[in-house]
Parts: sequence; C-alpha cells; structure tokens
Amino acid sequence: MAGLLLFLLALLPGLWGDPAGPAAAAFSCNVSLASPPERRWEPVLRRFDRAFLREAFARVLRDTIPKWVHSIIRPIAEEIESFVPQPFAGEIRGLCKALDLNVGDGLLLNLAYESTAFCTSIIAQDSKGHIYHGRNMDYAFGDILRKTTIDVNFVQNGQVKFRGTTFFGYVGLWTGQRPHKFTISGDERDAGSWWENAIAALLNRNIPVSWLVRTALDKAEDFEAAALMLSETPIIADVYYIIGGTTPREGAVITRRRRGPEDIWPLDPLSGSWYRVETNYDHWKAPPPFDDRRTPAIKALNATGQENINLESLYKVLSVQPVLNKNTIYTTVMSAAYPDRYTTQIRTLD
Ligand SMILES: *[C@@H]1O[C@H](CO)[C@@H](O)[C@H](O)[C@H]1NC(C)=O
Repeated sequence: MAGLLLFLLALLPGLWGDPAGPAAAAFSCNVSLASPPERRWEPVLRRFDRAFLREAFARVLRDTIPKWVHSIIRPIAEEIESFVPQPFAGEIRGLCKALDLNVGDGLLLNLAYESTAFCTSIIAQDSKGHIYHGRNMDYAFGDILRKTTIDVNFVQNGQVKFRGTTFFGYVGLWTGQRPHKFTISGDERDAGSWWENAIAALLNRNIPVSWLVRTALDKAEDFEAAALMLSETPIIADVYYIIGGTTPREGAVITRRRRGPEDIWPLDPLSGSWYRVETNYDHWKAPPPFDDRRTPAIKALNATGQENINLESLYKVLSVQPVLNKNTIYTTVMSAAYPDRYTTQIRTLD
C-alpha cells in the first residue's frame, strides 16, 4: 500500500502542477556552522556518489578554465588560506581532501560557476504589502547540476541561521534567505574579460560575488545592513544583486561594479512599480532582442496583477518561456517573512 502511494506520488508533476515540463523538489540538507569548515560538508557528501562528483568536477574544469588561469592558480593553491577568507578556504580544502582533488582545482571549480550564470530574478510586493522573491538559475552542464542542486540549511545553536541553494561542491550562494529578515539572489552581469579581471581581483582580496551573498546572509542582521553590504563590499566581478525584505517597499535591484554600486533600483509600489524584473542586462537599457527574457516576465506579471501575486503565481511567471528555458536548472521562490515556504524546484524543459 505504502509502495503504491509512493509510486503514485512519484507520478505527480511538480508541487504546483507544472505547466512546462516536470519538476522535482531539490534535495534539502543541513550544514552545521559549529563544525570546523574543513569538515562541515562531510555529512552532505555522504549523500552523493564520489565517482560521479569527481568525474563531473573534472568535466566542468576542463570545459571552463582557460589554461593560463590553471597555471597561475595551481602553484599557489597550497597557500589558499593566505588569499581566500574563511570559511571558504577551509570548506574548499576539506571538500578537496574528502574527494581527493587538488586544492587549486577545488578553488577553480568554485570560480568556474561564477563566470556564466544566466538568470532571471523577480522581486514583488502584493497589494497587502507582502514581499515575494523568485529566481530562475540558468546554466550549462544541466546533466551535472540538476543532480547536485541542494537547498542547504546552515544551522547554528539548533536553529537555521540562513538557508541557501547551491550546487554541491560550490561553497558560495546565488540564492538564499535569512529567516524573518531578507532574501537575496544574484544574476550575472557580463563585463567581458571575465577571467582576467576576476583572477587579478581575487589575488587582491576581492571576493567572488556568490561568497558575498553568503556573507551577507550570515553576517547582516537586517534588510538595510544586507543591502549596504551587497552594495559596497569589493567583489571580483560585476553582478546584479536582488534583495527582498519583510515589510512594504523592502525590495531592490543593486547593479554592481567590482568596487561599488552603479545603480540601486528599489520597488516603488506607491507609483505603481510593485515588481522589479532583472535578467542579465542593465534595467535602464533595452535587453538585446536575441535574449529578451525581461518582456515576457513583465507581461506575465502584468497579467497576474498585484492583488494575485504570491509564491505560487510567481512560480508560474518563472515558468513562462523563455523565462524558463532549456538551460534553467532550478526555480526558487521565497519570502523572508514566511521562511518555511522557501522552495526550490529542479527544472527540465526539453
Ligand atoms: C506592464 O504594465 C505597465 C503598467 O501598466 C505598463 O506600463 C507596461 O507597458 C506593461 N508592460 C508589458 C510588457 O505589458
């Protein structure tokens, strides 16, 4: 009987009856912030097949890292602690040890995913003042990343201090939530010469953009502190940070240069701007016609209407093609005021 029930459940489409292709909830796990960084991912690692991970990481490295970057990073990798902050250095070292990987390769793997993440992020306020935040993560290597996408609860003193979505082995976060405080997502902002700029900046102690997301989730105590940290901390590449809070008007798209903010674009519901859509282009410019995911998202939001926006309808907006596309790995919807409703679905559109 139980078997039959499980079988029937497995046949059900995604949580909200997916209009476009099957979806499945991401694997959820806990990481203890009380454990030393070198060891805290071990319990999660046990859920994965090591041979699969090793092969997957080797392929991502081979296909993304220019040779010259490899030859700079490999020799200095043993000194990772001297130019990479904690807990990132320790976590990468621990993962590499457990998987029998070179530490330089582990670091490069963490930078590799940083370079070409196409995405859509939406922040919205309903007519009662609730804030909703959703994102699609689009990336290559779907066959690997769909299998390694995890929702991680970072636990301290028996409580979830913050939650985030990532790919196993990748210690930064592109998506996350500080319960009852704020939510953050990051979308790539292409600045050209990516590796050249990034490596120089990294050696200059700037941090990867996804590490700043995680640092803000960990260290910022409220929406404003998080917005400030995301605006001002030096990072290795340009990016868009999308942040949502818990009370009316707490929402903004922060357009970043490496050294500081270029533009801050808040929700402005009193003037009718009850949502903001960010893909991978400056909001004050038109998106290129060959990659306009912005207009379809805006049309879907307009059709939904402010009085009907919620996590379910936001998920539907993120399921409209080409907002949802062949490269979409996952969709997360979240609302910091209702932390238990944080949901990530793995997406597959053929
Ligand atoms: C969405 O609605 C706004 C406000 O009514 C309007 O200015 C805009 O043109 C609409 N956009 C699209 C793509 O439908």
